[in-house]
Amino acid sequence: MNKNRKPTILAVETSADETAAAVIRGTEILSSVKWSQQVHGQWGGIVPALAKRDHELRIEAIINQAMKDSGIRNQDSIDAIAVTVGPGLAIALEVGIKWAKKLAQEWDKPLIAVNHIEGHLLSAIAMPNRSIPNAKSITFPCLGLVVSGGHTQLILVEKIGKYKILVESVDDNIGEALDKGARMLGIPYPGGPTLEKMAAQGDPKKYKLPLPMAGKEGRAFSYSGLKTAFRRLVLSTQCSVLNGEPDEQVRNDLAAGFQEMVFRHLLRTIKAALKTSPLIPLLSLGEGNEGRGISNLLVGGGVIANKTLRNKLDELGKELNLKVHYPENMMLCTDNAAMIGVVAGYKYGRGEFATEEELERKPRWRIDEPVVK
Ligand code: KG4
Ligand code: ZN
Repeated sequence: MNKNRKPTILAVETSADETAAAVIRGTEILSSVKWSQQVHGQWGGIVPALAKRDHELRIEAIINQAMKDSGIRNQDSIDAIAVTVGPGLAIALEVGIKWAKKLAQEWDKPLIAVNHIEGHLLSAIAMPNRSIPNAKSITFPCLGLVVSGGHTQLILVEKIGKYKILVESVDDNIGEALDKGARMLGIPYPGGPTLEKMAAQGDPKKYKLPLPMAGKEGRAFSYSGLKTAFRRLVLSTQCSVLNGEPDEQVRNDLAAGFQEMVFRHLLRTIKAALKTSPLIPLLSLGEGNEGRGISNLLVGGGVIANKTLRNKLDELGKELNLKVHYPENMMLCTDNAAMIGVVAGYKYGRGEFATEEELERKPRWRIDEPVVK
């Protein structure tokens, strides 16, 4: 292994409902292929057994396609095989792990275990196009925000590979809340993207909904109270799936009101945590810099595909002197293997490999837990 050149890594991701593989060189994406499972729509969430079966059906073709698209001649050019080992659905994770082990054995390559949340966190520094150099100069410590179906975390990135969770969800996660709210309006899973479209046609002030954690901002993200209030509101407007054909404008106004509160809570929490969290070091506290010396925010996860949320975060960035970095394209927002390969590139550089025995599923692996080799 030559540690001076950028490693070329085949990465595999099967932690939830996307079957994905990618070939990454450093932070540059040579190929990235994913299949978004269609089998969960009617169930209102991911059904683990269905996810596992679909991963098993697709994974070989997805890996072959990623290898083919990457333009590398054969597996000899691959330096390591990386795979998501957690957090995620145990039986879904197992599918990717099994394939990573199989290929590592057949091709005689080292294995790298990757945390899915770290993948989302670093997805903003993945480079989809080799002709556009990554101009992001990020200074550490910086902040990270992961907003996905399964996670809502504000993270202090001391450096790449060293993290502290500042705030996380105590109940529903942000994407989960959007999906559940959407379901109440009769939208199949995952409802976040459709809810965004409906919200764009609606009036967010039409209906009143409670702001979560009002007066106690900064301690936790919490969406279950808002969800319950929204259910009551939907029922009261005779707009549930059970209550017949709803009026389109009412539905759009409901979607707009709900989405607005979901994002308002997120933004207020980030702002409060940044001001008060004892975990954030007091660096060069400049005038007007409420970011306490932190000048970069990395954002990742499926919900950041949402344009309204991006606009709100851009405004927050201006207010707090924070440069906000997003994934370059939509494919990098929702689950993908390219982000897993980017994390693995750094781990390769640090010599963090896992033996076949060490490479196990870790469905509840937290990003601030000691490194799994
Ligand atoms: O990161 P991801 O693919 O999976 C997890 O790791 O959870 O995120 C999926 C989540 C779903 O809840 C989906 O509704 C949400 O991302 N999502 C969106 C949008 N696109 C995807 N939420 C709001 N607006 C969108 N445009
Ligand atoms: Zn994810």
